[in-house]
Amino acid sequence: MKKALKIYLILLLSIVSCKKEKAVSIETVDKPGTFSKNAMVVSAREEASKIGIATLKKGGNVFDALMATEMALSVTYPFAGSIGGGGFLVYRLADGEKGALDYREKAPLAANKDMYLDENGEVIKGKSTIGGMAVGVPGGIAGIFEAHQKFGNLEIEDILKPVIELATNGYAVTQMQHERFLEYDSLFVAVNGKPILYSKQIKPGDTIRNLKLAETLTRIATNGRDEFYKGKTAEILVDFLQNHDGIITLDDLSRYQAKWRKPIEFRYDNYNVISMPPPSSGGICLGQIMTMLEPFDLKDFGHNSVKYIQALSETEKRAYADRSYYLGDPDFVEIPTKMLLSHVYAQERMADFTFEAATPSDSISYGRIAGFESDETTHYSIVDQFGNAIAVTVTLNGAYGSKLFIDELGFFLNNEMDDFSSKPGVPNMFGLLGAEANSIAPEKRMLSSMTPTLVEKDGELFMSVGTPGGSTIITSVLQTILNVVEFNMPMQKAIDQKRFHHQWLPDEIRMEPNGFPKTTIKTLNELGYKTNESRSPIIGKVNGILILDDGTIEGGADKRGDDTAIGY
Ligand code: GLY
Repeated sequence: MKKALKIYLILLLSIVSCKKEKAVSIETVDKPGTFSKNAMVVSAREEASKIGIATLKKGGNVFDALMATEMALSVTYPFAGSIGGGGFLVYRLADGEKGALDYREKAPLAANKDMYLDENGEVIKGKSTIGGMAVGVPGGIAGIFEAHQKFGNLEIEDILKPVIELATNGYAVTQMQHERFLEYDSLFVAVNGKPILYSKQIKPGDTIRNLKLAETLTRIATNGRDEFYKGKTAEILVDFLQNHDGIITLDDLSRYQAKWRKPIEFRYDNYNVISMPPPSSGGICLGQIMTMLEPFDLKDFGHNSVKYIQALSETEKRAYADRSYYLGDPDFVEIPTKMLLSHVYAQERMADFTFEAATPSDSISYGRIAGFESDETTHYSIVDQFGNAIAVTVTLNGAYGSKLFIDELGFFLNNEMDDFSSKPGVPNMFGLLGAEANSIAPEKRMLSSMTPTLVEKDGELFMSVGTPGGSTIITSVLQTILNVVEFNMPMQKAIDQKRFHHQWLPDEIRMEPNGFPKTTIKTLNELGYKTNESRSPIIGKVNGILILDDGTIEGGADKRGDDTAIGY
């Protein structure tokens, strides 16, 4: 890529990155959720939730609905999604069997530890986030086929038919989507060297048809998973990337495999939490935080009170410090999971905490950081009429991933390589620090924060929950679970609550604006906590499903986005 073009892209990227997602006013007063008796799908788009429910009504189960919903999101929600990216699935079958599927992207064979450093060993800005070098080998198609092969009921062609029709006939652009297309338009053109499908003057209510994606999905429906990894689609993808400075080869694609993993499980009071293991940090961090929190009487402190915010922030700091040091791809590094999740270790970690003053982050570990981009991923939850449940979080990493759009195939490619630590001590776009455990190596999976989570109560399915939000994913899932189990909120109300976040570094509590009383913020500041209400107009877009005592299923969809719950 020409030097002048690169500088222009980086400048453009910083401008877009500095733009904030619009604040959305969230009504916190008893907004009802969506209730049903049989099944529920909650996803980032109404069309995807509808297709998911229709798949269940045809006799499909959660794994059939996974394929339908996820591919419908790839049509209607190009902002995130997995066809050019990857994701994680956590499941619980009606008989109580649990498991996790890792279809995270991985580094290409030609990747190396220093691939984003210049001759002076400094990180080259933008190289791991935009364009061909940012792209990890996509895992999305491998994941949905692996899940379907093991557990699915319906024929692939039947599942994908309505999705292909959706791509062919089109869907209506929402107000939020219109604003995002406008915001990223100049970057799309700059990165791709020409306007793309979403670059036109698209207004809210206009119909977008993605005929190339319909063709890609038709080939996949006919030829199966290998179409993406070894067939015509693979050839087009590799050809495209090689013309855009990429290093992914046909060998990389043909070697990709989704992997079944043992989920992280831990107790919190009389709940059993089941979440995603490494290469996600989500399950371990959530487990560490909740284990450190368990001795506190959070209900007594009061929801979003000073003491509540202190307890969560201090436990979060310690878990995120451990994350940066210990966690990475378990096929490459040894992770002391048992120790990190133990009560003894939790007690040791909190030994220096008092409510009298904040524990400064640099006394927990070292390092200073700054600089973020927006944090885009998407989560959907499904419970079927048979009692099976899934929580699935998928991602392209940044908004529209690398911003590279393959015209001929109709989808964006991820920029997941930025989730590696390009250089120890230098933060990635979420401000997260990494160490050796998350350094780049050929075929290694980059560390994630995605936290698709299921909760059992008294041995029965109780909740399915998850969210996008980069580094804030773990703490948004945490607060949503606590809102339900500590403060007895129904699903929708638990999701609607204002959220806050601490990730160790930077040493500040990030808060959604105007969600916390001035007196609370003043007291936190007096105790030595820095607060930041301007960084994130919204934190997370949580989607979740709760099983109520009488068996009714409540779907909660985050009004911070276009998310929609549909049940039957
Ligand atoms: N790309 C965001 C994550 O995996 O955490």
